[in-house]
Amino acid sequence: MVTEKEVEAIGKVLVDARKPLKARFRALFTLRNLGGRTAIEWISQAFEDESALLKHELAFCLGQMQDEQAIPVLLSVLRDTRQEPMVRHEAGEALGAIGNPDVLDVLKHYSDDPVIEVAETCQLAVKRLEWLQKNKSDPGPGPYLSVDPAPPAEGRDVPTLREALLDESRPLFDRYRAMFALRNLGGEAAVLALADGLRCSGALFRHEVAYVLGQMQHEAGVPQLSAALESPAESPMVRHECAEALGAIAKASCLETLRAYAQDAERVVRESCEVALDMYNYENGAEFQYADGLNKLEASG
Ligand SMILES: [Fe+2]
Ligand SMILES: [Fe+2]
Repeated sequence: MVTEKEVEAIGKVLVDARKPLKARFRALFTLRNLGGRTAIEWISQAFEDESALLKHELAFCLGQMQDEQAIPVLLSVLRDTRQEPMVRHEAGEALGAIGNPDVLDVLKHYSDDPVIEVAETCQLAVKRLEWLQKNKSDPGPGPYLSVDPAPPAEGRDVPTLREALLDESRPLFDRYRAMFALRNLGGEAAVLALADGLRCSGALFRHEVAYVLGQMQHEAGVPQLSAALESPAESPMVRHECAEALGAIAKASCLETLRAYAQDAERVVRESCEVALDMYNYENGAEFQYADGLNKLEASG
């Protein structure tokens, strides 16, 4: 059993801006795994931080925890236009992930937000909540144990799913459904179909494709992810996700690019490379657990 004192000690690492970002990330994921009110309170406190990367990950984790106690803080982040678009996006998505239909009106309101990534996120979250209401059941965690912004499509044919994914005349929700179906199918053909999505319009869509490629951890996506990270014209939100995906894939072919962009002019890209290099080391090292905040406490205490 983890004591309140231990949760507090991990929470203090998370909110301490002097600690290295990679340690704060590991503390965050430890809190996410522990769950409960105190963990949520510590995560909520860190929304005062200056790192958009850290804050967007807080919102992501609160959504994945699917605990309704996080709804008030997520609503306030979504409403707060001083927060970066990427952070507000993740708050909107998290509200959809929790699955409580009480937030539908707020999400409908922000479906017209002037920031396109926020608006599209809220449109997707509305559709997810409506889908849950209609189907009366959660789609379940799927092979990746993540709560996704859309349930997977039912088909299993890669070319058909690829066509749905890349067809920009279709509703975004349907294209996302094809995306998660391709991810769940797995294999090189699915990876290559998804990687083609990195050339579609819409930064939100491309960042989600990059995220999914990171979950799949398949080397066939490395050239396309590297190209997007290296492109100065690409949105920082997408480049960030490409960097983290390369860290998750963690092959030698990812390392050079991540090292090169750890000095990028965009803070969110730099920080993503830093975190990605830590994930790379974890994937290639002997460490048993990435979310190792508790082990670190034992080692130091
Ligand atoms: Fe996101
Ligand atoms: Fe992200």
